Amino acid sequence: MSTNGTTWSLYCSACDATAPGDVLASLCPVCGQPWLTSVTLPDRSVGIDSAARGLWRYRSVLPVSAGEPVVAIGEGWTPMFESPALARALGIARLWIKDEGQNPTASFKARGMALAITRARAFGVPGVTVPTAGNAGAALAAYAAAAGMPVRVYAPRTTPPPILDTVLAFGATLILVDGHIGDAGREARAYADDHGWFNVATLREPYRVEGMKTMGYEMAEQLGWRLPDAFVYPTGGGEGTIGIWKAIAEMQGAGWLDPDARRPKVIVAQAAGCAPIVRAFAANADRAEPWVDPVTYASGLRVPTPLGDRLLLRALRESDGAAVAIDDAVMRVQTERLSAATGVDAAPEGGCALAALEVLVASRTLGSTSEVVLFNTGSGASYRWRD
Ligand SMILES: Cc1ncc(COP(=O)(O)O)c(C=O)c1O
Ligand SMILES: [Zn+2]
Repeated sequence: MSTNGTTWSLYCSACDATAPGDVLASLCPVCGQPWLTSVTLPDRSVGIDSAARGLWRYRSVLPVSAGEPVVAIGEGWTPMFESPALARALGIARLWIKDEGQNPTASFKARGMALAITRARAFGVPGVTVPTAGNAGAALAAYAAAAGMPVRVYAPRTTPPPILDTVLAFGATLILVDGHIGDAGREARAYADDHGWFNVATLREPYRVEGMKTMGYEMAEQLGWRLPDAFVYPTGGGEGTIGIWKAIAEMQGAGWLDPDARRPKVIVAQAAGCAPIVRAFAANADRAEPWVDPVTYASGLRVPTPLGDRLLLRALRESDGAAVAIDDAVMRVQTERLSAATGVDAAPEGGCALAALEVLVASRTLGSTSEVVLFNTGSGASYRWRD
């Protein structure tokens, strides 16, 4: 059992720059691209603290110092359960649903914010800002509340009201923005720069993605330390997908998983009204062009210029993966189907993932022997309201 902290350092995802781990990092100062964290994994037999709650069982692979108190409110170790009925209906061998809607504030965003706020508190930042498609703001509001830290959340006016209500319930300052998350990003950055606050926008700091990678560790452990043939992730800014891919590389590199096992195909599911990664992957490009006029009711997927584009496209290529765009109308049907078939309160983003899976079976990218993990990244309850 390990209760020790980790030592870590930073490396740039795009150039040769490196930095020590004991700084509060934002972007690589040389090229402006995201930092990633390099950790040395202990042996698996001592690397997991099975007495720790939630994702903190993997504390030994996270950027947290020895003895450091963490900001934790129950994140991670979400259930992953098999749906033989859906697998049969789809025509694949096995299907597991990992239900991230069961995190604090009902989305996977809790994982990243637990790490980001733990680091922000360790460095004594006076406050935090975030631009958000919705769920990241709700999660940040909760973690900042737990840490006693002021927080400003910048969200599009079109964000589902239940998510905005959650932000307000934690006492955060909410700024509604005309436009999309990119417009919110400019305002969040400007405030943070002017006031010496820390901006925790997706991949503008390296800690959120470390929280996200615990989904990959959990997926492997919950499958009995092996990997599926593919995982399907509804992708906006990309930190979930990038985090899981990073986890797989770490686990294979350190022998937690068979280093020679084939890595799963990365399946990126996006909304047809905002699909910059699908378009860039189809064009075999390294970077994604901004998506003009992004529209989808799956608010978490309305991210027209993902900073993680390069990393997402690399993961898609390295894994021989696939990227699929889904119409909102199809997403609605598949969201209901996912809920009705499994008992999971599916978010539209989860429905998007199911729709993408069906497309890939139809195109024979996946087939009757495929074992697939599908991420339901949020909760349907966050998207239901009466006017
Ligand atoms: C429910 C849900 N699913 C998926 C996403 C997209 O996640 P990522 O930005 O990690 O690609 C979001 C982002 O806000 C979300 O809220
Ligand atoms: Zn760089």
